[in-house]
Amino acid sequence: MTRIRLGMVGGGNDAFIGGVHRIASRIDDRYELVAGALSSTPEKAQASGEALGLPRIYDDFKQMAIREARLKNGIEAVSIVTPNHVHYAAAREFLKRGIHVICDKPLTSNLSDAKKLVKAAENSGALFILTHNYTGYPMVRQAREMVANGAIGKIRVVQVEYPQDWLTVEQDFKQAEWRTDPERSGAGGSTGDIGTHAHNLARFITGLEVESLAADLDAFVPGRRVDDNGHVMLRFEGGAKGMLWCSQVAPGNENALRIRVYGETGGLEWAQEDPNYLWHTPLDEPKRLITRNGAGAGDAAARMSRIPPGHPEGYLEGFANIYSEAAEAIEAHRDGRPVDAEVLFPTVHDGLRGVEFVDACVRSSARNAAWVNLRG
Ligand SMILES: NC(=O)c1ccc[n+]([C@@H]2O[C@H](COP(=O)([O-])OP(=O)(O)OC[C@H]3O[C@@H](n4cnc5c(N)ncnc54)[C@H](O)[C@@H]3O)[C@@H](O)[C@H]2O)c1
Repeated sequence: MTRIRLGMVGGGNDAFIGGVHRIASRIDDRYELVAGALSSTPEKAQASGEALGLPRIYDDFKQMAIREARLKNGIEAVSIVTPNHVHYAAAREFLKRGIHVICDKPLTSNLSDAKKLVKAAENSGALFILTHNYTGYPMVRQAREMVANGAIGKIRVVQVEYPQDWLTVEQDFKQAEWRTDPERSGAGGSTGDIGTHAHNLARFITGLEVESLAADLDAFVPGRRVDDNGHVMLRFEGGAKGMLWCSQVAPGNENALRIRVYGETGGLEWAQEDPNYLWHTPLDEPKRLITRNGAGAGDAAARMSRIPPGHPEGYLEGFANIYSEAAEAIEAHRDGRPVDAEVLFPTVHDGLRGVEFVDACVRSSARNAAWVNLRG
């Protein structure tokens, strides 16, 4: 199979997630990075492209979209790994020309752009993959499969949290700088940056949508213009209740994403920092530890695993799973085949749900943690 010709927007020298996307795209060897507009100025974009030895380097994403669409062997897909406020404008240029988009979260920096991007994706016929990468972990797939198969019965309670500590004091390096600027990050700080991961993970595992929420957001660091801590109560469709905590000011926490789901007949627990294990407690029975590729793990987890149990798989492999599922969908699109039902990467619609979540948190908190619906 010929490798998918991939371009990248963002991810220049000194950027964080662009490098992760490049590694993830290569783990299963299904992509070839051939073009990029990697930075915000032409000089940095050129220098960053040269550092990677890219065959085609562009000054900006619009020029790249126009020229690549005209080439006989131009890119088939583009990864968008810029700060949030650029996602919409960049994605639109590629979708308009039928180029598939793999975009990082949150979908956009505001709700209006998110709605327009959904329309742009629907009108384009190209695929839109959103890298909520935690959905690519084997034991997250296992949890989702178990919930769907009724292993814990009807869901009653969801506890999800994503605490970090890296913004406990004011920071001036670039990743911190744009994340704390509402113009570039969006109105949500921790809610947009990591709350969206927690919200998406809860939806993904339970299969339930959040209908309404009550959020108490704070910017604890003096002068900070976006939230750095959020406590959010959730009401899911069908009556389940939840709590979501996102924080970037919780010393001792690095990427402590964790979820616990309780149903009428049992519970499940998973933690991102110990990702190869899933705890399952059937009601009135001892806890069971399900291990990746080990006893008790099912087909959904096996599809996402590469190596025997006991050898850790984690962040990069989870990311690669999203890329490889995207490759399956892109190849199916290329061949005019339907996409396999087991392909579960998040889409532009999941992205809209995430931006609705942030918008609702901000609206609720402004009204002293009043209950608000996610859809206005
Ligand atoms: N899924 C995850 O786990 C995860 C983790 C980190 C970041 N992210 C997301 O990835 C995105 C990037 O985050 P980061 O931490 O890598 O940021 P970063 O600041 O490290 O990198 C951003 C890059 O985008 C470039 N850029 C800015 N404007 C541009 C433009 N107009 N055209 C081309 N390039 C441009 C910058 O020069 C830089 O190279 C954000 O949306 C963030 O929310 C996701």
